[in-house]
Order: sequence, then C-alpha cells, then structure tokens
Amino acid sequence: MSTRDSFRRAVAAGAVGICACLLGARGAAAQQAGPGLGVEIAPEDYAPWDISIQPDGEGLPPGSGDAATGAQVYAAKCLACHGEEGAGGPNDRLVGGHGTLADLNQVRTIGSFWPQASTVFDYIRRAMPFQAPQSLSNDEVYALTAYLLSLNGIIDEDEVMNAETLAKVQMPNRDGFVPAWPQRGDR
Ligand code: HEC
Repeated sequence: MSTRDSFRRAVAAGAVGICACLLGARGAAAQQAGPGLGVEIAPEDYAPWDISIQPDGEGLPPGSGDAATGAQVYAAKCLACHGEEGAGGPNDRLVGGHGTLADLNQVRTIGSFWPQASTVFDYIRRAMPFQAPQSLSNDEVYALTAYLLSLNGIIDEDEVMNAETLAKVQMPNRDGFVPAWPQRGDR
C-alpha cells in the first residue's frame, strides 16, 4: 500500500468515526426527547409474555395438581415423545440418572441434573408439548410436574404441587451449579 493510500484510509476511517460519533449524539438526543411513536404497553398486554419463574418460586401461578392426575395428562400429551414413565424415547429421558453425574456416561434428566424444581414447571408451561407450547392449563402443568418429580423419587406420590409446595422442593443437584452472576438476595 502506498503512503498516499494509507493516508486516504486513515482519513476515511476518521470520517466514519466522526459520523458514528455524530449519529450517536443524535441518537442520545432523540432518546431523551422520544420519537413520539407508539403507545405505552399495558400490563395486561405483556402479562402473557411475562411468565418467567424464579428459582425461589416467585412467579408461580395459582393452581395445583398431583401425580395421579399428571400421569393421565402425561399419557395423553407426553408419552409419545418421552416414553413410559418418562424413561425416554424417542425424545429426552425425563426420569432417572441419579448419581451418574460424576460418571463419564452421565445421564442428565430433570431429576438428576436440574437444580431447581420451579424450572420444571417453567419449562413445561413454556415449551411443552413440543408441537403445542403454552397449550396446557396451570393445573395440568402442576400435575405433570408432580408426576415427573414423583417418578424421580423427589416427592411422594400423593404430594400436591402448588405455588407454595413446589417452591419448597429440594432437587438432588441443587448444589451442583456455580452461579456466574449475583444471585437474588446478594444485591
Ligand atoms: C412431539 C414430541 C414431544 C412431546 C409430545 C413432548 N415433548 Fe417434551 N421434549 C421434546 C423434545 C424434542 C425436547 C428437547 C427440546 C430441546 O432440547 O430443545 C423435549 C424436552 C422436554 C423436557 C426437558 C428435558 C431436559 O432434560 O432438557 C421436559 C421436562 C419435557 N420435554 C416435558 C414434556 C412434557 C411434560 C410433555 C407433555 C405435556 C412433553 N414434554 C411433550 C419433545 C416432545
């Protein structure tokens, strides 16, 4: 590259930098004033999107269910993909694998691997059944959660799951993760 070319490039890069800087300043000014477009979103409009449940159970909705009811829902809506009693096939195994996490051939299931019971509820409500996510009622999700936790030996067969009881369930691998971010309560 000739000296003149380098000079031109340097000038061009400088110009781009100045433009970006000016645009940034304009963006900041526009942000302050607001573009005057759109309307403020109403709480009832974003409520369907605001379905995250925290590890401590915050966000769990009203409703309840037990393993016997969950078994019926499971047979109708989950069995085809997750197998008899959650043992797997053709899709993920949901039950078992306890005590295998230190092995080379780990068996990771919601029972052996997942640290929080509230995530089981959150995940099923949000994502399953695979072909019809968010089609289950909260009672069905509580019942399925109870069924899968009881198959994993984490709760008793007759324990009813609701916002209060599910938040108290202790998962076997609850201490198996190192949080990378500050936790609620640390701040
Ligand atoms: C059409 C097949 C299909 C059906 C029906 C289905 N699932 Fe799934 N399920 C999947 C697939 C595929 C995955 C893996 C998704 C991924 O990893 O992104 C999965 C993952 C899961 C997981 C997470 C497993 C893990 O360890 O990561 C849970 C829990 C689960 N399903 C529960 C259910 C429940 C409960 C039902 C019934 C309401 C159900 N699924 C119905 C296909 C299905």
